[in-house]
This record gives sequence, structure tokens and C-alpha cells, in this order.
Amino acid sequence: MNIVVIGPGALGSLFSARLAASGRIVTLLDHNPARALSLDNHLTLSTATNEELRVDLPITTDHSCLKQADLVLLTVKSQHVVDLLAVVQNHITPDCLILGLQNGIGHLHFFEDSQAGLALGVTSQGATLLAPGHVRHGGHGPTAIGFLHPAPDKRVLKLIRAAAVMSTAGLATEVVDDIEDRLWQKLLVNAGINGLSALYDCPNGQLLEIPEARSRLIALVEEGVRIAHTKGIDVGADPVGRTLDVCRATASNISSMLQDIRNGRSTEIMAINGALLAEAKKLAIPTPENELLVSQVLAVEKSADKAKFDL
Ligand code: PAF
Repeated sequence: MNIVVIGPGALGSLFSARLAASGRIVTLLDHNPARALSLDNHLTLSTATNEELRVDLPITTDHSCLKQADLVLLTVKSQHVVDLLAVVQNHITPDCLILGLQNGIGHLHFFEDSQAGLALGVTSQGATLLAPGHVRHGGHGPTAIGFLHPAPDKRVLKLIRAAAVMSTAGLATEVVDDIEDRLWQKLLVNAGINGLSALYDCPNGQLLEIPEARSRLIALVEEGVRIAHTKGIDVGADPVGRTLDVCRATASNISSMLQDIRNGRSTEIMAINGALLAEAKKLAIPTPENELLVSQVLAVEKSADKAKFDL
């Protein structure tokens, strides 16, 4: 299986390194020529037990590698998916499977067409980018992949094969038929944690110790649950409890959104809490907590020095 991973962020670097280390043909595609060159065709993978592994693989900006791809892993942020899909779909063969691994739900409508080989995934793998080309695999978690709508058998077989390839590479993956529910389950966790950790400028665990942050977290998730239930989405048992558990389990983690703020990058706030607002508007559900959070995180994003928001 010839695999192209697009986006050398934490997840893209982790999946590229693990898949290439397991003997797969993997190319990492970057849009940034200077960075692609500086990565010098290798990645460094640090494990949770502090081992370091050098993985050699082609890292390029040349889209022609997509012509040979059987599987394209799209690991860019939700807000970049639409532009990228247009480029990717111009280069791939009709048999190629595209798998999007994004936080949030802002990109879901671009993945409606299962016939076109568009699948979605949600992962709990713990990846932190220590430096460009250097990723830490801090913790293993499951990855679920699936189509939003029933797909032809040929497509499903390809997806099953992709799951087997990823699992063999040490990235445990299962094919599911409720990927939308799974994406919402993760969305609610991210909606409760990510924006607040960016505002309070703290690791996930501290949100539980700041009474105001803790009650805001609960209210954010509860608003999300109301939207999900109205849409008929199965968010599983006790989404609030689950989010508090994730805070505890990842207590020392700097969330991906806080990492973005600290590194001066745009955040996924619109794909997470912003997407909840868009859904709530359609359903006339009040969401004051999510509205406040979105406006505050956007303000932090805009502030030139990325200073901590004045709470
Ligand atoms: O986006 C993140 O950082 C992670 O999904 C999570 C679960 C909030 C842990 O930091």
C-alpha cells in the first residue's frame, strides 16, 4: 500500500513515522518548501519510554506523489481541508482512499461523498510536536475510521485494509459504522477543554482546579450535548464525566489549542466550539457559554503578543 500523509504537524508526523517504520511506502507532503527541505527526508520519533527512533522517508512539496497513492491521510487542520481536498482530488486515481483525521466537525460536509473514497477518522493517539520533524508519541489510544454514509463494498474493503495497515504499524485502528457519533463524542471533549485551556493558559488538569474554569467546562459540554441530542447524535453515556476524566488522564498535557496559541498559529476554535454555534443556530438552541468562549479565543488569537486573555 502506497501512502501519502499530508501535513507534518504532530499527528501527520506520528502517522508517517509509525507507518514508514513498519515498512510501508510513505511520503510526507508539506506545503511549505523551506520546512520540507529542512526536514531533510527524515523524522525523529520519541517514545513514551524516551527511546528515539530516526525514520527515513521522502518529505516533499511535490504533489505528483499523489498519483501513486492508495491511501491519503489528511492530517491538516479542519480549516485547511476544503482547499486541500480540491488539490488532492485533482491528482489521485479514482481508487485512492482519502482519510481525514481532524478535530472538530467543521469539515464534515466535505466528506459526505463516500462513493468518492472519502473517509473520516477520530484518534486518541497522544502526539506532541517537539520541533519540526520531531514528534513524541506520548500515549497510545484507539483510532476509529469510517464513512459518513454507506459505501460500496470495494470502498469498505479498502478501509478495512487501511485499518489493518495502521494497526500493524502500532496505531490500533478499527472500522466503525457510527463515525459521526464518534466525532461528536470527541468534539464535546475538545469543546470543553481546548478553548478554556487556551484562555487560562494552563495544562488540561488545572482546569479542574480553577472553580470558574471547571464550571465553564461543564456548561460548554452541556450545551454541546443539547445540540447533539436534538440532532439525534449518540454522544454516549455521561459526556461531562468523560470530559472531566480526559482532563485528569491528560492533566499535564498542553492542549493542541494552547500549543497553537503559544506558537502563534491559528486555532481550531471555529471547527470545534464555532461549529457547535453554527449547529445551534440552525436549531435555535441557546449557547451563551460557547458564544463567550469563541469570542474570547478569537480575541486571544488576534492579540499581537498572544498575551493571556484578561479574564
Ligand atoms: O486536542 C487536544 O489537545 C486533545 O484532543 C485533548 C484530548 C484535549 C488532550 O489534550
